[in-house]
Amino acid sequence: MNKPYTAVPSIAGATIKLAGAGLALAAALALNPAHAADAANGKVLAEGHNCAACHGPGLNKPVSPEYPKLAGQHADYIYWALRQYQMGSGNPHLGRNNPIMQAQVQNLSQNDMRDLAAYIESLKGDLVNKK
Ligand code: HEC
Repeated sequence: MNKPYTAVPSIAGATIKLAGAGLALAAALALNPAHAADAANGKVLAEGHNCAACHGPGLNKPVSPEYPKLAGQHADYIYWALRQYQMGSGNPHLGRNNPIMQAQVQNLSQNDMRDLAAYIESLKGDLVNKK
């Protein structure tokens, strides 16, 4: 038996009923509009912030062994790593405390970080997922 309506969790006290799970998902996305990450803007930001000065050409050849390779890393991982550096010591439970990277991200907006993450994911690099 298919119910014609599916309830989604109430938002601000209002229960919204929608026809079908597909619509419910579409509505959930519409209510929580995601910034469409812009890899081209991420490239501009990476160049402007000179990320390659440490992470190397193509963000794939770090200038020092303790600097990580970034190219090709999953965008959601990169985004969250950048957010953690930004939260830093102000939030010891969530933050990453590396002072070098904390300094790099202080002026970035969340959309900047999403764009940087999309750009980094788009780069060809040596990182691999072992299967
Ligand atoms: C002055 C050198 C330097 C610059 C410039 C720099 N980084 Fe980093 N980055 C580091 C170091 C060092 C680490 C490792 C920090 C740690 O151990 O947490 C790191 C780590 C990272 C990580 C975490 C990677 C992982 O696998 O967890 C990301 C993401 C990152 N950097 C992105 C960037 C971006 C984007 C820029 C430019 C906006 C940038 N970095 C500029 C030195 C730098």
